[in-house]
Amino acid sequence: MLRVQKADKIEGTVRVPGDKSISHRAVMFGALAEGTTQISGFLAGADCLSTIDCFRRMGIDIVQSGDQVTVHGKGWWGLEEPERKLDVGNSGTTIRLLTGILSTQPFHTVIEGDESIAKRPMRRVVGPLREMGAKIDGRKNGEFTPLSIRGQELTGIHYQSPVASAQIKSAILLAGLQAKGTTTVEEPHTSRDHTERMLRAFGVEVKTEGTRVSVSGGQTLKGRAITVPGDISSAAFLIAAVMMVPGSSLVIEQVGINPTRTGIIDVVKAMGGRIEIVGERVLNEEPVADLHVYHSQLSGTVIEGDLIPRLIDEIPVIAVMATQASGQTIIRDAAELKVKETDRIATVVSQLTKFGAKVTPTEDGMVIEGNTKLTGAAIDSMGDHRIGMAMAIAGLAAEGETTVANAEAINVSFPGFAELLASISKPAHS
Ligand code: S3P
Repeated sequence: MLRVQKADKIEGTVRVPGDKSISHRAVMFGALAEGTTQISGFLAGADCLSTIDCFRRMGIDIVQSGDQVTVHGKGWWGLEEPERKLDVGNSGTTIRLLTGILSTQPFHTVIEGDESIAKRPMRRVVGPLREMGAKIDGRKNGEFTPLSIRGQELTGIHYQSPVASAQIKSAILLAGLQAKGTTTVEEPHTSRDHTERMLRAFGVEVKTEGTRVSVSGGQTLKGRAITVPGDISSAAFLIAAVMMVPGSSLVIEQVGINPTRTGIIDVVKAMGGRIEIVGERVLNEEPVADLHVYHSQLSGTVIEGDLIPRLIDEIPVIAVMATQASGQTIIRDAAELKVKETDRIATVVSQLTKFGAKVTPTEDGMVIEGNTKLTGAAIDSMGDHRIGMAMAIAGLAAEGETTVANAEAINVSFPGFAELLASISKPAHS
């Protein structure tokens, strides 16, 4: 159980844990590469630890101590058939990317995860991988876990994805690295491109033309050092806190500012918020910078279209922030929220309304009324890390005390969240 009091001020200079998407990929690509990959700034959260566990079960030697990880890669064909089922825990990225990788391997694997994973759609990756020749089965004809994968020789495809999803794109491209011919994925909007950037850093040729990405089969990866930037999706909670608590300002150092991820910065600026991007630099193909964030009076906005994949994971905390803006905020084109760790349209509405917020769900998003006084509430994370954190942030702007039950879910992406929040927030004594 996490307890949060109304805050008087948020202030300080901090770092957030490493980027979740990049940490997963560093371990996966390191395991598939020839030679050693040394990772610093790794996110030692539950999701990325699940990825390490899966590769250890396939015979890869991985040494992890805090945010330092050494992966002793054995090349693409160095993985061994695991003796038992692989368990991805709560991690959608692990299961979807692994399904692509395992589709190429000359052995059989069964993968499953927790209760949330058991409800999440898998045919979005299983379908195109089957088109490439993969033999994959699962409940409801491959829609749900457990998945059983028997690796095959695959053939490249040109896949037109109905949704902008980096997990779909990455699963297909990874399978494509060992398929005959060329594999191309085309998306309705560009999703996060960490796979493309990191594959290039590992020596793989990846062609990007607008929303279309291609790889040719038979490529090898070479191990290297990777420094993981801070996760902008974790920084987003702190940015929202600063915007909601008058008089606040915060410096967040070394945050990833990959343009496929910076929708949160664009939206806060569009709402009238002040964020300065300082000291921009590049770490293994990924742009990073320090963010100087200043409390600002925000106005409501409309969030839609190609902005959605650039901030999909930030929508719960954007909804929280919008309660304190002037006017209405409308979020649309975000039906993907329904298939995240929870149905995030439903869970944001059910939890945020407990504070007295006015949020109306729609088919593909929600409408949030601004200028709303929040009152401390008894919240449940519903087992969803981002719901737990978004509601804790609401608690900083709410009168009295807020409690978040099932707060251990936060460890999925932001270990040390409660301690970090306590170190930068001065409680209001009213
Ligand atoms: C991720 C992609 C996104 C995102 C998730 C991480 C990734 O999911 O929501 O938290 O690392 O590729 P989708 O690909 O389903 O949009």
